[in-house]
Amino acid sequence: MDKKEVETLFDVKGKVALVTGATGSLGSHICLGYGLAGVKVKMTGRNKEKLEKLYNEYTAKGIDCAYSAGDPTVEEDVIRIVKETVDKYGEINILVTAHGLNNPKSIIDHTLEDWQAIIDANVKGTWLYCKYVGEQLIKQGKGGKVILVSSARSKIGMKNYTGYCTSKGGVDLMAQSLACEWGEYGINVNTFNPTVFRSDLTEWMFHDDTAQTKFLTRIPIGRLGEPEDFVGIAIFLASKASDFITGANIPVDGGYWAN
Ligand SMILES: NC(=O)c1ccc[n+]([C@@H]2O[C@H](COP(=O)([O-])OP(=O)(O)OC[C@H]3O[C@@H](n4cnc5c(N)ncnc54)[C@H](OP(=O)(O)O)[C@@H]3O)[C@@H](O)[C@H]2O)c1
Repeated sequence: MDKKEVETLFDVKGKVALVTGATGSLGSHICLGYGLAGVKVKMTGRNKEKLEKLYNEYTAKGIDCAYSAGDPTVEEDVIRIVKETVDKYGEINILVTAHGLNNPKSIIDHTLEDWQAIIDANVKGTWLYCKYVGEQLIKQGKGGKVILVSSARSKIGMKNYTGYCTSKGGVDLMAQSLACEWGEYGINVNTFNPTVFRSDLTEWMFHDDTAQTKFLTRIPIGRLGEPEDFVGIAIFLASKASDFITGANIPVDGGYWAN
């Protein structure tokens, strides 16, 4: 190992990433972080207007990016978006699934349709992207990095979370199973597992003393997350520095799992 190898361990410049949920709090920050690190970023989500706005904002910063609107739970959309990414950039090296849905309700109040929508978004949508990007990565024959956004709730139950916890537990095991399937192709598959971070849905918690007190007693770092907190792990898991890590469910949670 020489100095240059160490200095370039985290270098992701020139790679091509496909990021789902790019319109969301976490997804948009990962696209920005990757773009500023020199990654070519294909952004996707269902909301075309939001994608266009991000595209304008990021290209103005000199980022090489593109977007395709589509639903991660619709197979034809996923096939099309993977193809459009390859048509635009020639290949895919990194997949990040950062889309997701929660709709907390008791099992009694949840309809089957409510529950199914969570499972479809979080499990089916992730599986479909893994299937079609995985096929492309295997065809390219030079490995790849698959990064699934899970949750600290994947291994800890919670009242009113029979949809969300179940779905994120599924995402963790999907990564472990795919790690076993794709090790021989040099494709790393990992999750990172956040605790609460700032988004449209969680913003209220940052202004609610009861919620803050309840959560912060469990978080040794002493604060809730910010979307920027996940850019480092997303770059690490996309880089050479993580080549020997696969099938891992990595907490990025201020110590929540440790406490
Ligand atoms: N925020 C937290 O505290 C927290 C904690 C732990 C884990 N997470 C996980 O982190 C990821 C990103 O969360 P976030 O807070 O950034 O969420 P967010 O801001 O709500 O963004 C999520 C994105 O997912 C897409 N989406 C929403 N519902 C969908 C559905 N039914 N089908 C398909 N796509 C859907 C939306 O994009 P379009 O409308 O454009 O499709 C949305 O922009 C999710 O997997 C979430 O479960 C979040």
